[in-house]
Amino acid sequence: MQAKHKLFFLFVSLTALALVAPLHAAAPVPPARTATEAQAGAADPIPDTLEQRLLACAVCHGKQGEGIAKSEYYPRLAGKPAGYLYNQLRNFRELRREVPIMTYMVAYMSDGYLHEIAEHYSQLQPPYPAPATGFSDQELARGEALVRKGDAGKNIPACSACHGKSLTGMEPTIPGLIGLNREYIVAQLGAWKTGQRHAARPDCMAQIANRLSPQDVSAVSAYLTTQRATANPMPALARSAKLPLDCGVVPGASSAVPESSSAVPSASGGDNAGKDVKDRKEPGS
Ligand code: HEC
Ligand code: HEC
Repeated sequence: MQAKHKLFFLFVSLTALALVAPLHAAAPVPPARTATEAQAGAADPIPDTLEQRLLACAVCHGKQGEGIAKSEYYPRLAGKPAGYLYNQLRNFRELRREVPIMTYMVAYMSDGYLHEIAEHYSQLQPPYPAPATGFSDQELARGEALVRKGDAGKNIPACSACHGKSLTGMEPTIPGLIGLNREYIVAQLGAWKTGQRHAARPDCMAQIANRLSPQDVSAVSAYLTTQRATANPMPALARSAKLPLDCGVVPGASSAVPESSSAVPSASGGDNAGKDVKDRKEPGS
């Protein structure tokens, strides 16, 4: 990160914490009114709603979870499957994704509350940013080939096989890839390569990221940011396609985590990403 981004990040982080801390801490008990407030009979206390508390997140992710597309990469949350978002919040809390600010944000939140948050953002459908332009035809052609067909020679399946034909993800745990900042996409693929991001084993995305060359990452991220959302950008239905690789976070994957640890995020609290802690290094393939 460049120095000016660091400063901005620090500023934003402090603002966010100032917002989230008192409101969240005060959640169960409405704050006592001050004498002047009571006297004036005015100044309704701030309503303690989920929306109100999530203003802290809005500082970075936008009010509707639309993401903020500057040179900083604050990803879109809106419309991603709730199971996916829930897994990520737990991944931050339990350090399977090493992003200090996000770990800090969710460190003291219960599984139940993380479910509520995930559910909330999954329901939102703010508009998508305008597709990016300005890439070379060659780069876009390579990106399109990888996204739509994969590269059999390198054992890379088409991204659309799992992320959906319209790239809006698949219920319950595969995210859409539209509306994300290019830098963010590059950073995530890089984090899988370097072991800073993990999902439940088999971690299909770690395998795929490791097979992508730097040129592939550049091409795929360029192409993805040029894609327009469909008119009804909902994630595809669960199991609407047979996955080309097993993914531990996808229910029913043949070599996924054992039954007892339930790979399906359920209303009662799925526990599907937690099996990866001991062996954090996914072997390169
Ligand atoms: C100071 C800025 C900041 C604040 C405030 C913040 N986030 Fe984040 N969030 C980030 C960044 C940066 C990332 C991307 C991390 C990475 O590189 O993996 C992220 C990633 C995420 C992701 C993963 C998205 C994905 O597609 O995988 C979720 C979910 C999320 N944040 C939810 C929240 C919630 C809920 C809150 C409020 C409780 C919140 N964030 C507050 C900066 C912030
Ligand atoms: C076999 C299925 C599968 C294929 C093929 C696949 N993905 Fe994924 N992808 C997933 C799953 C599952 C996740 C969620 C992982 C998690 O829970 O962290 C994911 C997550 C991601 C994310 C993180 C998104 C975010 O919001 O943080 C990116 C970026 C991504 N994939 C890019 C790609 C690209 C690029 C390709 C093609 C080269 C691809 N994927 C192919 C299954 C797949």
